[in-house]
Amino acid sequence: MSDTKEVVLTGLRTNAEYHIGNYLGAILPMMERANNLAGKYQINLFAPDLHSFTTPVDHLKLYDQTIHNLKLFVAAGLPIDNPDVYIYRQSFVPAVSELSVILQNFAYFGELSRMTQFKDKGSNAGNNVTGGLFTYPVLMAADILIYGAKWVPVGDDQTQHLEFARDLGQRINNKFGNLFVIPEPVTKQHDFVGKNQGTRIRSLKNPETKMSKSVEDPAGTIQLSDKPTEAAKKVMAATTDSVGIINFDWQKQPGITNLLQMLALLTHKSQDDVNHNWQGNTSYGDLKTAVAEAVSDALTDLQKNFYRVDDEFLQNKLLSSEKSMNEIANKQLLKVQQAVGLRSKE
Ligand code: ADP
Ligand code: TRP
Repeated sequence: MSDTKEVVLTGLRTNAEYHIGNYLGAILPMMERANNLAGKYQINLFAPDLHSFTTPVDHLKLYDQTIHNLKLFVAAGLPIDNPDVYIYRQSFVPAVSELSVILQNFAYFGELSRMTQFKDKGSNAGNNVTGGLFTYPVLMAADILIYGAKWVPVGDDQTQHLEFARDLGQRINNKFGNLFVIPEPVTKQHDFVGKNQGTRIRSLKNPETKMSKSVEDPAGTIQLSDKPTEAAKKVMAATTDSVGIINFDWQKQPGITNLLQMLALLTHKSQDDVNHNWQGNTSYGDLKTAVAEAVSDALTDLQKNFYRVDDEFLQNKLLSSEKSMNEIANKQLLKVQQAVGLRSKE
């Protein structure tokens, strides 16, 4: 563990199996960063398993789902044997939960009520809105502040939570002196990670909405465990439009535009190059065939890699990372406990 390397921290919920939207929008960029930045930065990559059941989840499956999803990171190219890379489960570092309980007392009801994720996911839950969903951003702030992470690359949907973590950390620093490293503001996070921020893959069936693991939409969602031939069929049956000419236009042709976006990401080409090749073409079938092939190739490779991941090696890496994380987190927790009067200052 290094005391001098800045920390880049990413968490990805494990409430369900990942789909190709999670893969292209979150997992691949994360793996690229881990490969490019390890050496210069400390990379913390974790499964926020306690966050996973802020929305309904199958508890019988959660433990295995978490391991399965971590294994997918390795299959997707995580440099697991790099000493700067730490991969761990949130709940295996109890100090995070304890910090979260302390932080709750400095978080205001008003600000938590204004979080759009709480409003969106809360309105879907009807009368079953839980305290866990409400305090979600506090636990997320604990995830970040306890490790002193300066860099937290998150998608657009999480920027409000990142701002909240900054506000909360700053509020506590103002009251108790500099206890926490404050993560950089969202604009700097964007500069840090560059282009990949905010990619949104849409549902193949309802291209007005994003592909989501929290919504039941089997025909519109490509799971990473789908058989490549089944996934290709879903692409061939994707909803398009009646315009008849291929254009990159999210408003008028969201289905076609979604396919163009997937093609660029899957084939590692720039969006401009892909658009240049396809714009003006009148065969939606040809575009679908190209995307279906790219999806099928990507899934074939990923699934092959997945079965090659050595379970024991992953387990050992988790244990050693969690040991290191506990050391860092316990030290930080003690500092906070002393500051707020829970532990003696000496
Ligand atoms: P979901 O809506 O599928 O439950 P989460 O909200 O748990 O997904 O998001 C997990 C990560 O995957 C986030 O970083 C989010 O930005 C990314 N992500 C989720 N859905 C998509 C999508 N359709 N396209 C691209 N990235 C996505
Ligand atoms: N809220 C994030 C998501 O839904 C997951 C997450 C939990 C996270 N704690 C975090 C992300 C800390 C970054 C930092 O994707």
